[in-house]
Amino acid sequence: MTAITAYRAAILHSLGDPTQVGLEDSYAYYEDGLLVVSEGLIADIGPAEQVLARLPAATPIIEFKDKLISAGFIDTHIHYPQTEMIASYGEQLLDWLNNYTFPEEGKFADPAHAARVASFFLDELLRNGTTTAMVFGTVHKASVEAFFTESDKRNMRMIAGKVMMDRNGPDYLLDTPESGYADSKALIERWHKQGRQLYAVTPRFAPTSTEAQLAMAGRLLAEYDDVYLQTHLSENKQEIEWVKSLFPERSGYLDVYDHFNLLGERSVFAHAVHLEQEECERMGETDSVISFCPTSNLFLGSGLLDLPKVESHGIRVGLGTDVGGGTSFSMLRTIAEAYKIQQLQEHKLHPIKALYLATLGGARSLSLDDKIGNLSIGKEADFLVLDLHATPLMDARINNSQHLFERLFVLMMLGDDRAVSETYIYGKRQYQK
Ligand code: GUN
Ligand code: ZN
Repeated sequence: MTAITAYRAAILHSLGDPTQVGLEDSYAYYEDGLLVVSEGLIADIGPAEQVLARLPAATPIIEFKDKLISAGFIDTHIHYPQTEMIASYGEQLLDWLNNYTFPEEGKFADPAHAARVASFFLDELLRNGTTTAMVFGTVHKASVEAFFTESDKRNMRMIAGKVMMDRNGPDYLLDTPESGYADSKALIERWHKQGRQLYAVTPRFAPTSTEAQLAMAGRLLAEYDDVYLQTHLSENKQEIEWVKSLFPERSGYLDVYDHFNLLGERSVFAHAVHLEQEECERMGETDSVISFCPTSNLFLGSGLLDLPKVESHGIRVGLGTDVGGGTSFSMLRTIAEAYKIQQLQEHKLHPIKALYLATLGGARSLSLDDKIGNLSIGKEADFLVLDLHATPLMDARINNSQHLFERLFVLMMLGDDRAVSETYIYGKRQYQK
């Protein structure tokens, strides 16, 4: 990496949640912009004419003609071990787990398999413009070792954890309260804050953990105050009934996690499509986060998240692909399905709000907005070069559009990995189409 480099193109980034600050104050757009990166961090940004006037002499300038620079996408929920079982036919959640997911995750007992899939998975994220993700491993400690090793090689900011599950799964996929605790602890000591890597305590979901194991998850959070928690919540109606029968003494699904002190500002709950009113209130009160996973919720027939409703409780929301329950690595495709899910409920999802959810909103959901999420000065330089003319159809439709919002919406409805020309991680190009 040269010490300092400037990139010239149209630039669009999110500055705030349009729902909170209003549309006009929620983004910045420079039709002819300049982004300056020094030592992996954003050093300057603005209209090219202004930034050029204050640019240190002899700074190399890379121009992207007809392209759009954006902050990297942030995927707040995904399973790397499910990469090679994406698009498995015919089932809803519980049968899908038993018939497809668990056997696939069993293969990660082999560290060589884990290393190969982790490498493929991270390259696939880069191809799709995803620069940060919150990632499930499998129950095997080595699956997370392999993941962080590959992520660290690419210098990507990733959050990941070893799945804790000690019941209601096949024997070959179960740990114990003690081994789940010890393996998680060893991974935290080895990887949390090692370079850009961060750890998430990862009980799979309430049905696959005993009370003793959920207590151990709570103990880890108490021992390490800046690690994350990731799990699943209220995804599928049969699942919710099952949780109620397994934990009859708890008032509902969320209360199971609450009882073991698993709620909080670093706790990310995937799906949460069927929350009760009190559960929404409790999520808001504890500053817990929802990962909205549109392609998964449709593919597994789980349900429709009411985004304005959960946001009205002050709950932070990020977007997740949930591969392999989800059907695409692309955050653009994920946005397109999020839009349609809101349409079915007569809500609008503005393209600037969608951009927020996929970037700054994701960073806020992961409490990383001091480091990533937009292109503000001082942040880590994870950014994308997007091609709004990537396909003949996109080209024709973009050429027939006027306003920025219209072009952005077309990108979101028609775009996918083909629209990602280049992906930069910490100021270094890690992918070029
Ligand atoms: N609930 C428990 N495990 C899983 C999983 O792997 N994927 C999804 N979508 N939901 C889950
Ligand atoms: Zn999931």
